[in-house]
Amino acid sequence: MRAHLVVLGTQWGDEGKGKVVHLLGKRADWIVRYQGGNNAGHTVVFDGRFFILHLIPSGILLPGKRCVIGNGVVVDPEALREEVRFLEARGIRLRGRLYVSLAAHVILPYHRWIDQIQERTGVHLGTTQKGIGPAYADKVARIGIRVADYLEPTLFQRLLHNNLRDKYPMLKGLGSLSGMEKKIFRAYPGLRRFLSSCAADTTALLQRADRRGERILFESAQGALLDVDHGTYPFVTSSNPGAAAASVGTGVAPQRIAEVLGVVKAFTTRVGTGPFPTQMPDPLASYIREKGKEYGATTGRPRRIGWLDLVVVQSAVATNGIRRLALTKLDVLSGIHPLKMCVAYRHRGKLLKRFPASRTVQQELEPVYEHCPGFAESIRQVRRWRELPEAARRFVDRIERHTGVPVTLVSMGRSREETLVRTTGFQWL
Ligand code: IMP
Repeated sequence: MRAHLVVLGTQWGDEGKGKVVHLLGKRADWIVRYQGGNNAGHTVVFDGRFFILHLIPSGILLPGKRCVIGNGVVVDPEALREEVRFLEARGIRLRGRLYVSLAAHVILPYHRWIDQIQERTGVHLGTTQKGIGPAYADKVARIGIRVADYLEPTLFQRLLHNNLRDKYPMLKGLGSLSGMEKKIFRAYPGLRRFLSSCAADTTALLQRADRRGERILFESAQGALLDVDHGTYPFVTSSNPGAAAASVGTGVAPQRIAEVLGVVKAFTTRVGTGPFPTQMPDPLASYIREKGKEYGATTGRPRRIGWLDLVVVQSAVATNGIRRLALTKLDVLSGIHPLKMCVAYRHRGKLLKRFPASRTVQQELEPVYEHCPGFAESIRQVRRWRELPEAARRFVDRIERHTGVPVTLVSMGRSREETLVRTTGFQWL
């Protein structure tokens, strides 16, 4: 029986997972999201056209592939319908190819409102304000509304009423309780019709596919350092992008997931607040931001820019059992000399090889850098390892040496063709 693959980001998200999934997805039968929601923004260039997917797996752009939004995802029905319409308007056929788990929790307008209020009045995390955190909070508090509940009008009405009533003290600045309820109900019949057309017992679908020997690619959203358990808490998202969650978030048994590929960007970016030891100042940060088009795919926010942090990548490798890396955006670093990579931190004279748990210490870390020679040449056209400038090869070699895993792919640009495949023997290539 064939085993399945997880593709996940090893930094703070925005590593370029969309392209990698699009590239490897051709060998998959199913492409599955298992956590997060429409806070994600996966950019894919396909047939010369530019797509940003938020909730639907990037694999939907590959003709004939089936896609699942698993039980671990939080689904905003309005956002999903909008994304489906966006794709259909561009000729992407979705009928019979997109399944949404009946056990996934729904994001309702009040989750977005609460997210916005909390950003203004609580710890400022710089969330995407899509209602992700509040929806997961309801799930864990066991007051959430799942897709299955949403599809039953009487049950939905009762759950909605109870939830809105309990949350009203926080929301009262936005209008009356009955006004909010009415607003949600006005949109409900159409959204319910839409959601019932793609809702399914996706655990059963995937388990059956697994038994038939079909291949599943699990597409993580966000990144390892935004993981609510293993990331830079509280400056994280409210789910587990980590590979282990692929099983929890879909119902496919953990031992069926044999391959984990980590996507690492040749430098580091972060949107939102939170510690970022290798953040670099202007003018270099602005130069890289402009050259690499480092603006949030979901919110348009300028991303913070820093040097490659191998302490972070190494922790993602260890925690997730990553066996291969895909390196993205190496081309963006051409013309910068010297290049730096962080291999440890110093804190009050002590050398740290791991990201510390203490929030206070996290803010005070000084990166310890290795310097590498830069390369002046543009490398976007390079497709063979030996044609890369020596300095670029050495940069990649050092990543392998520090993380202990091979760099299988080097991505040079947004389209699938702009990729250097380095090693063979990877059954997903
Ligand atoms: P939330 O997921 O909207 O609650 O946001 C929590 C944190 O995760 C914020 O710092 C966001 O900027 C960050 N975040 C959420 N989704 C993504 C993503 O897809 N890429 C990068 N950062 C993200």
